[in-house]
Amino acid sequence: MAFDRTIKIAPSILSADFANFGQEIQAIEAQGADWVHVDVMDGHFVPNLTFGPPAVAAFRKHVKTVMDVHLMIAPVDPYIEAFANAGADIITAHVEAGAHIHRTLQAIRATGAKAGVALNPGTPAEAVEHLLDMTDLICVMTVNPGFGGQKFIDMTGKVRRLREMIGDRPVHIEIDGGVDPTTAPLLAEAGADVLVAGSAVFKGGSVEKPEVYGANIRAIRAAAGGV
Ligand code: DX5
Ligand code: ZN
Repeated sequence: MAFDRTIKIAPSILSADFANFGQEIQAIEAQGADWVHVDVMDGHFVPNLTFGPPAVAAFRKHVKTVMDVHLMIAPVDPYIEAFANAGADIITAHVEAGAHIHRTLQAIRATGAKAGVALNPGTPAEAVEHLLDMTDLICVMTVNPGFGGQKFIDMTGKVRRLREMIGDRPVHIEIDGGVDPTTAPLLAEAGADVLVAGSAVFKGGSVEKPEVYGANIRAIRAAAGGV
């Protein structure tokens, strides 16, 4: 995984058909997805439940690009190895999920996975100031985590601040929540390079109509100024 700041679209399979993940992943990748975003929820850190490590390991067999695993769980540390063994390329933990995010990021990198840190809308950019040299990705939540299809919360100022703080470091800025062709341009302009999108990618499409996924992905990418 070489680092670059080109726009990457990461469809969240939270909006896919839960009875058909294999074909859904193949469809979004064939239609231009750069990464595959996997939302892990525990019914404790967030009020919803999704997948554990065995499901993520099953997804891995279908992912040819990058498997980006977003952990919305607390505690995080006891499960890091299991998600790394499940084949996650990137493991992202929330700064709000525990007292020791620094240790968590060290533990993620120790598995060989890339380490991401996520910030809820109420958490300031400065929360990651002392973590910039030990993280590969900062995920800026633009909804309160837990569900797909929520209304976008503008975090453009936070993204701009993070972009300044990051400087030349090889750290991605990822946006998660309410990304669509209307919100994408503001975020890209502010310095984001990874755009997660659930509803805006899967809307109107299916494995029988995968070209809709392609059109949706292209619309977000074009709006963000990517090619
Ligand atoms: C929210 C998840 C997101 C979600 C985004 O807790 O982390 O990845 O699936 O969904 P949309 O794009 O529909 O807002
Ligand atoms: Zn997510």
